[in-house]
Amino acid sequence: PSVKNRRLSLAQEEKLSRDMRELYNELIPTPESEQRRSKFLAKLERLLSDRWPNSSIKVNVFGSTGNCLGTLASDVDVCITTDNNELSQVCSIAELLASQGMERVVCVSRAKVPIVKVWDPELQVACDLNVNNPIALENTSLVRSYVAIDDRVRPLAMIIKHWAKRRILNDAALGSTLSSYTWICLTLNFLQTLKTPVLPSLQAQPGLQPHILDGVNVAFEKDLTKFADFGRKNTSSLGKLLYEFFRFYAHEFDFETTVASVRLGGHVAKSVKGWHMLLDNRLCVEEPFNINRNLANTADDTSMRGIHKELRRAFDLVSNGKLDECCEQFAYPT
Ligand code: GTP
Ligand code: MG
Repeated sequence: PSVKNRRLSLAQEEKLSRDMRELYNELIPTPESEQRRSKFLAKLERLLSDRWPNSSIKVNVFGSTGNCLGTLASDVDVCITTDNNELSQVCSIAELLASQGMERVVCVSRAKVPIVKVWDPELQVACDLNVNNPIALENTSLVRSYVAIDDRVRPLAMIIKHWAKRRILNDAALGSTLSSYTWICLTLNFLQTLKTPVLPSLQAQPGLQPHILDGVNVAFEKDLTKFADFGRKNTSSLGKLLYEFFRFYAHEFDFETTVASVRLGGHVAKSVKGWHMLLDNRLCVEEPFNINRNLANTADDTSMRGIHKELRRAFDLVSNGKLDECCEQFAYPT
């Protein structure tokens, strides 16, 4: 049989699921690391309010600290909400933090979303910080809701993020691959589009009132009790889901014509969105709220071929039950 039809034997599937559980247990943050993160957030809040005592300043977490998909190694993503314009000039925050013992302080003020990066040597925490970016808080809450609907989402998504990190496929900042967030959306969309889906679309529910924030509709179903049994009909094991994930993106998904849409819980033709003219945008992943944004536009043609090759490699290994090798650290040939 051709490689793409390689089946997983029951014994292999069971071993893969066990290995995934074990890896997952190694990835979840320890209470000690959670404590360091909380202390860091309290410290940050104190530093900011001491410096700007008359402003209202709130420290919110987003990204993996807020969506339950953080690993031991994840940074803390912080969004400061404030009415003080001085803080929107993120470099003023960078100056403050550098003077208070934070290290490796970098201020990226000209990005679309200006950020400050810091490392706290005392608490051993890395942090990315931005100001007044409410959409990021909303999409974090959306991801957290999906994670809460079915027990398999968290281990599956964390392992896919881990794989992407090890294979150096998730550094959007390097300008060539996909962000963790993009991998997360690909995972959620995969679970929504299975023949027997594990996840619904929380945005495509009847009776939702539009909620417009920064010009985009961020409405989604918040009452998760409606979905308590949603994934039950799909009885796939974790191992089976990981195998299907790699099979789907390695051999089935049509990168040329199709957009992955978490918002619709399905696939849409690029032409429907007017995205078919973007020839070098091989992979298209719609941002759930900001639907004009293709999250995968960080990957150009060449890097997309590399990512596709890695997906096929992962499928080959996983379909032989080899999780360790699948997640082996990528090393550049010397
Ligand atoms: P790790 O840090 O790798 O553990 O993963 P993460 O879940 O924190 O993901 P990442 O650092 O890629 O992104 C953090 C958050 O930033 C996401 O949860 C989103 O809220 C937001 N984000 C990242 N990339 C984009 C983007 O391209 N568009 C928008 N609107 N939000 C983004
Ligand atoms: Mg992060």
